[in-house]
Amino acid sequence: MKKMKKLVAFLLVAAMMVPMAACGNKVKSVGDIQKSGKLVMATNAEFEPFEFKDGDAVVGIDVEISQKIADRLGVELEISDIAFDTLITALQSGKADIVAAGMTADEDRRKNVDFSDAYFNASQAIIVMNDSDIASRGDLNGKKVGVQLGTTGDKYCTNEDGANDIEVAEVKRYSKGMEAVSDLIAGRIDAVVIDDFPAKKLVEKNADKIQKLDEALTEEEYAIAMPKGSADLQKEINAVISEMKESGELDQIVSKYIAEE
Ligand code: ARG
Repeated sequence: MKKMKKLVAFLLVAAMMVPMAACGNKVKSVGDIQKSGKLVMATNAEFEPFEFKDGDAVVGIDVEISQKIADRLGVELEISDIAFDTLITALQSGKADIVAAGMTADEDRRKNVDFSDAYFNASQAIIVMNDSDIASRGDLNGKKVGVQLGTTGDKYCTNEDGANDIEVAEVKRYSKGMEAVSDLIAGRIDAVVIDDFPAKKLVEKNADKIQKLDEALTEEEYAIAMPKGSADLQKEINAVISEMKESGELDQIVSKYIAEE
């Protein structure tokens, strides 16, 4: 009988601990974000025109979209500028509420986060020297390619499961696209693979030396990431995105950053 009591007590305590443990990792609701008074956007501000530094401030297309989301929720926008390959962990650990970082909504990431509707069509572009013998994507075979660490460009070129058509000789990973371009100009790598708009910006700054090929490596879509199970937040974000698309505001913002040169 005594044993039985002990067992019941144990089971009761165990049962109480389950919701407590779940609580620790509880995904913030829209109400929780509103109570905290701020929406924390994690990004990697090495990606002009989507996010980059203007003095101490982080600015860009993703910042403007996130500001709209914060406005809709009636909270302040707080920006956390961290390494690209730590963004998803920041969501999972609750350090950030959203990731807006020109992040491609791909199947691997979908296992760990929820994505909003897509807000931008992008592709992986190829940057080479003006006098390079690389003229098309196929010419990347056997070449040394620089990428930004943890990006879809990294994944494609690394080709871990051998599923892609291109087999490069070596992938060099950088934390900033700019550093990859410096190595390209210094002759340490043969090409840089990075998203098309950031590629355009990088080429503009060094047009006398480098060029972006017309042919892209992959096609992808950007979306805003949030912790898995953020259905109510996802609804609000999708509403903002669809409003911005319909009103033409999103196009206006994009052309503002692309035209500003
Ligand atoms: N679109 C690519 C990806 O999702 C690159 C994004 C890089 N973004 C950044 N803010 N550095 O992997």
